Amino acid sequence: MSDDYNPRVTPWQIDESEFYEIDDARAQKEFLLRYAVLAPSSHNTQPWSFRITEQGIEVFADYTRRLPVSDPNDRELLISIGAAITNLRVAAAHFAFETTVLYAPRIEENMPLALVTLRETCNPDPQLCHLFSAIPRRRTNRAEFDRREIDAETLEKVCDVVESSEMLRFVVPHDRAHAAELVEEGDRVLMSDERWRKELAHWVRPNESGAGDGICGDAFGIPGPLAALAPSLIATFDAGSTRGRHDRELTANAAGLIVVTSDDDGIALLRAGEALERLLLTLTSLGVQYAFLNQPVEVPHLRHELWRLIRSPKPPQLLLRMGYARPIPRAMPRRQVETVTS
Ligand SMILES: Cc1cc2nc3c(=O)[nH]c(=O)nc-3n(C[C@H](O)[C@H](O)[C@H](O)COP(=O)(O)O)c2cc1C
Repeated sequence: MSDDYNPRVTPWQIDESEFYEIDDARAQKEFLLRYAVLAPSSHNTQPWSFRITEQGIEVFADYTRRLPVSDPNDRELLISIGAAITNLRVAAAHFAFETTVLYAPRIEENMPLALVTLRETCNPDPQLCHLFSAIPRRRTNRAEFDRREIDAETLEKVCDVVESSEMLRFVVPHDRAHAAELVEEGDRVLMSDERWRKELAHWVRPNESGAGDGICGDAFGIPGPLAALAPSLIATFDAGSTRGRHDRELTANAAGLIVVTSDDDGIALLRAGEALERLLLTLTSLGVQYAFLNQPVEVPHLRHELWRLIRSPKPPQLLLRMGYARPIPRAMPRRQVETVTS
């Protein structure tokens, strides 16, 4: 890593004009991957790697970055990789490529999950192009949101995205209080599990950490000096009751709740991640903030109850709240593209 590489700043500052100076196809693909790695991932594990070939870009899971306690079946790992695929496709469209995603028939370790092919075009997908500027501005925002509704015009655009995907569903306002109870109970169950807390603590970093992954304390509103203590505090104390009450309020008062649903098989989960990131980039481009409330999805009996609540043919994978709030100024760290690309 070069001395002036700051993982919270450098990866997010991409000068797009550099792309037009590249005349080598491999270097062009590597440039596009700089956008892919800005995708969100559970605990900011960034569980992906890429291989550039003549046909396109092969996408792999990096199973060394698993979360065995909170994500024992690699659901969130695959969703995170799907999100990176969307970023790659959005960036490719912006630079005038048409992309196709060819999924592997089965998930096998050491084999690519998907191949993203690229072909130059004069007509890149306008919906993908439109999302490009949101990639470096997207942030997960865990703060309390303003207590105001999403304005009608914006809501209509969010509805368009939700309704155009069979994987996205709103929680209707009538069911919000029930969803909030499930989130509270999810916090209690998860945080009472020392293994779960230790796993989270393992990925929490000081605010000025030089690490290229993990969640810095300020993402949870923890200021500088205290953030260094956050991992040991999280690992030691069960704050489930306090956290649960807090998250229950956030859920009940959200301007909107959206669930990502899909079957639990590998390709469906990648596609769910692609739909997730389309949604998150749309929200970002509309000036709407979002955060995850997945607690009930990670506890089997609560997941079942959430599934019943949303009356969806497919099980819930993620629960999100959205609303207006002050944007998050500092991005979370990212690893350098070179370290995840071969
Ligand atoms: C599949 C998935 C699951 C996530 N689950 C949670 C969650 O349960 N709670 C949370 O606060 N953030 C969650 N996140 C957000 C990540 O922690 C976040 O993306 C990561 O720290 C990087 O930060 P950024 O999104 O601001 O770039 C999730 C993200 C993804 C993609």
